[in-house]
Amino acid sequence: MPSLDPESIRNDFPILAKLVYLDNAATSLSPRQVVEAQVTAEYHYRANVGRGIHRLSRMATHQYQDARETVRQFLGGGQGTLVFTKNTTEATNIVAQGLNWKKTDRITTVLQDHHSNLLPWYRLKNEGRVAGIDTVPLNDGVIESSDIEACITPETRLVAVGHASNVFGTIAPVKAIADVCRDHDVALLIDGAQTAPHLHIDLEEIGCDFFCFSGHKMLGPMGTGGLWISDAVSEENIPRPLFAGGGMVDCVEGTAFTPVTGPGRYEAGTPNVIGAVGLAAAVRYLSRLGMENVGRHSAALARRMLSGLSEIPGVRVYTPADAPLIGTVSFTVDGVHPHEVAYFLDEAAGIMVRSGEHCCQPLMHALGLNGGTVRASAYCYNTEDDIDMLIATTEEIAGMVR
Ligand SMILES: Cc1ncc(COP(=O)(O)O)c(C=O)c1O
Repeated sequence: MPSLDPESIRNDFPILAKLVYLDNAATSLSPRQVVEAQVTAEYHYRANVGRGIHRLSRMATHQYQDARETVRQFLGGGQGTLVFTKNTTEATNIVAQGLNWKKTDRITTVLQDHHSNLLPWYRLKNEGRVAGIDTVPLNDGVIESSDIEACITPETRLVAVGHASNVFGTIAPVKAIADVCRDHDVALLIDGAQTAPHLHIDLEEIGCDFFCFSGHKMLGPMGTGGLWISDAVSEENIPRPLFAGGGMVDCVEGTAFTPVTGPGRYEAGTPNVIGAVGLAAAVRYLSRLGMENVGRHSAALARRMLSGLSEIPGVRVYTPADAPLIGTVSFTVDGVHPHEVAYFLDEAAGIMVRSGEHCCQPLMHALGLNGGTVRASAYCYNTEDDIDMLIATTEEIAGMVR
């Protein structure tokens, strides 16, 4: 079975010589190849796209379109449109603000999800644009399709679900959820911020309507991401692009204007051309590694964290033991604030983790965790040594307060 060789991958990430990077669920690092693709674009075809006739503009337009196609194919999204956004949050808001809601509509959300997949929907409810939100309550961190089905009512118009929890690291069965949504004639939006970096995504096989993701979590540049819209969703269903302005319009007469069709409709203004080129380089890099290998490697490191941390007296692990995982594990150390744990891990051993609420206040409230958790998240360049260092240093911290 082919697998990853993190030691050789690490050569492409010079910063790893100096530290142990386990904050990948927040933002991953970019390899040399991604940085170089952007530098080449800067030096050789920095120009706006779809606007100029000169050769730089034509080159930039070609590269931008090529990047779009590369990312679309990477996600198995041949039967849909790939819109470039600056992140998952923007992608989700394009859908939330763009759909032609009826005041009687209801939306199903999941309590453990990230604010970016809750607040856009909450706002619709708060503004009276939809009738209500039905939320899957906290369980053990594992979402089943039956949990979603239990929240669907005859008025439900959309289910918005996180593909993987950025706190627990658990993966939701999105194909089964898509089947449930189809049975009930409800649209499905998947927040793929945490899975696009780790899993082989096949959007056509999943059968969702919308998929949102962030490039900066999958080796790509900061300020990149995307929204995939299935061909099953007609543009009349999203009559109101979030942004209006240059580049997204076909014709303006008086104060009336008609947006173009296709992805440009949702990309008003000058896009992040260099970022898109970098994101395409990132998905090419991931494709060379093989997403099955990446996913297996991340999950194996998560299991190692899980078993090592669970054995330390005074450490509570929140990631369930038997669930399918991306590379993420959340824990706390009794008597030590998560921020102090994170600070000590950095100061003592150069280990970077995230601490706090992870943009999941409803979840943290339900867990009764005022300071949140410590979250360690692994990726393709992490090694077993990184994980063992995390476990040993956490043991030291827990030992200091016993
Ligand atoms: C599950 C999930 N959804 C959405 C987001 C928001 O991503 P971004 O800040 O790139 O928009 C994150 C970021 O951590 C996330 O983990």
